[in-house]
Formats: sequence, C-alpha cells, structure tokens
Amino acid sequence: MLRIKYAVALLLISHCTIAQLNQKLVCAGCKVDPYHYSVQKKGVYTHAAVASAHPLASMVGAAIMEAGGNAFDGAIATQLALAVVYPNAGNIGGGGFMVARTKTGKTIALDFRETAPLKASQNMYLDSAGNAQTTLSQNGHLAAGVPGTVAGICQILRFARFPLKQLIQPAIDLAANGYVITERESRALNGVRAMLVANSTRPSAYVKSTLWKGGDTLVNTALANTLTRIRDKGQKGFYEGETAALIVAEMQRGKGLISLEDLKQYQAKFRNPISFDFQGYTIIGMPPPSSGGILIQQMMQMIAEKNLGRHPFLSTPSVQLMVEVERRAFADRAAHMGDPDFWKVPQQTLTSKAYLAERMKDYDSTRATPSSSIQAGIVKESNETTHLSVLDAAGNMVSITTTLNGSYGSQTVVGDAGFLLNNEMDDFSVKPNVPNMYGAVGGAANAIAPKKRMLSSMSPTLVLKNKQPYIVVGTPGGTTIPTSVFQSLVNLLVYQMSPEDAVNQPKFHHQWLPDQVDYEQNFPKTTMDGLIKMGYHLNNKYQIGRVELIQQKAGKLHAVADGRGDDGTAGF
Ligand code: GLY
Repeated sequence: MLRIKYAVALLLISHCTIAQLNQKLVCAGCKVDPYHYSVQKKGVYTHAAVASAHPLASMVGAAIMEAGGNAFDGAIATQLALAVVYPNAGNIGGGGFMVARTKTGKTIALDFRETAPLKASQNMYLDSAGNAQTTLSQNGHLAAGVPGTVAGICQILRFARFPLKQLIQPAIDLAANGYVITERESRALNGVRAMLVANSTRPSAYVKSTLWKGGDTLVNTALANTLTRIRDKGQKGFYEGETAALIVAEMQRGKGLISLEDLKQYQAKFRNPISFDFQGYTIIGMPPPSSGGILIQQMMQMIAEKNLGRHPFLSTPSVQLMVEVERRAFADRAAHMGDPDFWKVPQQTLTSKAYLAERMKDYDSTRATPSSSIQAGIVKESNETTHLSVLDAAGNMVSITTTLNGSYGSQTVVGDAGFLLNNEMDDFSVKPNVPNMYGAVGGAANAIAPKKRMLSSMSPTLVLKNKQPYIVVGTPGGTTIPTSVFQSLVNLLVYQMSPEDAVNQPKFHHQWLPDQVDYEQNFPKTTMDGLIKMGYHLNNKYQIGRVELIQQKAGKLHAVADGRGDDGTAGF
C-alpha cells in the first residue's frame, strides 16, 4: 500500500456535510483527510463499497454511504469529488453514462453524453479546400461539446437518499481547501501545462508559477464557487445564470460555439439498458450512443457459441478466438453505430444469434482473418476517461463512466469557473475516413449534426447471478473500454478468477483496424509466439484499461481498483 506522507499541517475539511442521521453526527469531512491519505487497492466490505480513479473520491463516496446514503448517493458524491481531485477526466465539463440497478430490481441506463452545439455543422472542421483541420476538433474552444455531467447527476438524484447540497459539499470543500496531489498527478499537470496556457484565456488553478511536485496542495477557488452555485441552484446553477454566462464568455473569447441556448436545451436521457444472458448470468450494459453495450453483447455471445472456456486462460487458442470476436464487433461499430436519435442503429440484428453466427462463419482457428476482408471503418479513441463502481449491501448497483475525451479534455479551463471543458467533438467523424486524434474514422452514422451525441465506447456494466447483484464493472480507455470490460468478464465468469486477478491480469486489444493485437508488457511469450505464427501483428502497449470492479460473494463486497494507476477503493 502506498502511503502518501506530506509535510503539511492536517486541516480537516471545514464543513460538516452530512446532517444528523440515525441519532449519529456523521461528517464526511471528518472522515476524509485530503492531506494524508493512502491508496487502498482492494478491500472486502460488509455494507458498501466504491472503486474509482482516485482514493479521495472513493473515500468521499464511502463516507456518504456510511452516513446513511445508498449506492446512488455514494456514486454522485464520488463523481463530484472526481471532478475536483481527478481533473484529467473527472469532470463537470464533460459527459458520460450510468448503468444502474435499484435494490427493487429496476434497471436504468442514463445518457448524459455531450451534444454538438446548435451552431455545429457536418463540415465545421473542413477548410475551404475540404481538408480536415483536426487540431480544431481536438484542442481549444471549438472542440467542446455541450457538457452533460451536471444534468446527469441531477437525474441520478431521484434514486438517492440525500439532497444534492449534502452530496456536493465534500467536493466543494476539496476544491476550496485543497488536496494533496500525488507524483503521478504532478507529472500529468506539468505535462499539460503548455497546452492549458495555450487553450485557456484566463489563469487557472491548474497552472502555477512553478512546476507541480507530488505533495503540493491544489486549491481551486473558482471551481469551489461553481460547485457552490450548483449546490444552491441545482441544474440551473450550471446551465443558466452565472456559470452559463462564464462558459459563454469563455466561448466568445476563444471563438467557440456553445451558447446560452445550447446550455438551456441540454437534457440527459434515460435509455433502455441492454440486457442479455451469458451462461446463466445476466449482463446489463449501455446502449447507443455508446457502442459499449452492443460490442460486449456481441463479443460475449460469439465466445459462448465457440465455447471459449475449453481453452486455457491466455493461451494462444483463447486469445486468438477473443481477438477474432473483437475484430468483428469493432468492424460493426464503425459502420452501424451512432446517436440513435439521429441514426437507426440496427441493435436487434447486430446482437441476434443468427447474425453473430453468420459473422463468425469465416472464423478460422488456425490463422488470423485479415481485417481487409471485413469491410467497415477504422476505430480508435482516447484513453482519458474515468470509471466508478459502487455497490451497497441493500442491492443498489451503480456503474458510471465519464470523460473529457483527451487528457484534460480541450485543455480549455472556463475562465473564473475553474473547470475544464471536454474535447468530445473529436469523437464524431469530422470527415469520412479522416482519422481523429486517436486514429478513428467513421461515416454517416457518426457525422456531426446540431444537438447530436458523438459515438462513445464507454461501457458501464452490471452482472446479476441468479437475478441477484453480482458484479459492478467499468474502465476508461477509449476503444479499449469494451475489450477491457469483455476480458474482465471473461476472467470472472469463464475462468472463475478472483476479482483482483480478473482486473490485473494482462490485457490485449484488437479493434479491427489497425489490424494488430495490442498487448500489455507481461503478456505470455509462448502465446505471442503462437499468434505470430498464425499471422497476427503484435503491438506492445504500455497499459490497457484501468478497471474498477466490485463483486458480491458470500455476503461480502469485494472491491478492486486497477493496479495500473492511483485508483483506490473504500467502503465499510
Ligand atoms: N471519449 C471516449 C469515449 O466516449 O469513448
């Protein structure tokens, strides 16, 4: 366990944030010390558990639940804390998806993905010669979609026990009083410093006169003020009034498109969750505008048909089969998936047994199927997203993935409002067959249109066993998200691994194009040799995914935060 020790005075978060409950005064601020904390990679809890990208955010979520909140309260508090302590991807200036199940068995899919501004148009990133100017879809004001996170949180509140003003207060305290950053966070902030300066029009807390060091305290007063407006006015505290005016003023200074009308019109949407059976387990996932749920259903159904479990874990035959189902699912993604309010996604067909059997007809267990023989578009996206999983003993399950897209999004901080805007417009296809910042191309299904949501890979996922809560899982990682969730599920459900092994075993990824298998450092050499002999191109990747997983077993909640980052668990 990494113990973070820094020579700063212990300051408790100033406000007691949770009212008296069950005759007991509980104060989230008294439980969470943002100046001295450790990273807990796994924990076994009795009542409630959180796994997220930052230990402080997980601790805030757990403290809220210990004070009497349910998993929805814990998830909202964790998400808001991430918006402060994990500015790479935690956000109020981005968007995301929630897949959840209440203790009464109601399943929920909430879409708070960003939308293209009203003034956006299909060719907005093309110059007069028709060339794509992808720097504009990737950096600065024009790259930002209309944020959805605050609208999403306000919808999740209906399932929570506490009002927003209590759930948001720990985040306000963290922003106002500061928190100690880790070495990793200092490196990330220093790395993005020049881009933050170039793409913002006002000074912000993320850039100081000297470089950041691990152990420094980051105070963000402007963000605390924005969160306070949200606390006091709810959704209108972000989409109207002073915060909206600050966003629009920032857009005007930087020639962006988001208007007061865009903000006023933004709505989070409830969708029908994807639900399917896998060998007796029920898997629940996110439908479009995320591709994640469909891809996971396709991949799980294709491996079930071929009985993956007869092959040893990470052996050449098991990896080869999984690579081939990943290839076929991702080829479908580029051609067929987009915002369902704008494009008819053939979801029933794509996930039908007959279609998937046809898809695997040319599968050959002795060699690679060249991607050139499977027609569709290239898909590759950002790694800078974040996931949180929350489960309580009453049976509420919450899986939320949110993103700014690139690391620190558009690198534009809204002047005097203290938060980063996303660069999610780059998840659209800016021009057919022109790759975005991560190499993705697409077509009509994912073309830009006003108010349209850009296609995502985010895959917040739940699993039930005997119709009871079993697993809450998700990960960041762009296009590697569906494959990382797929592989975590395979590790747990097919190979019956412990949650810790399921998260930390080496991962691999194929996304149809480029026609290569990405693999992590500690991948077995014999498996790689076997794949090369069968005609696969292998590509070493530093790391794939950062999975946050909670499994309920024998009445206990086993939470695991991925070993690949500073991610942490908390619970009680
Ligand atoms: N921006 C990454 C995703 O939505 O998949």
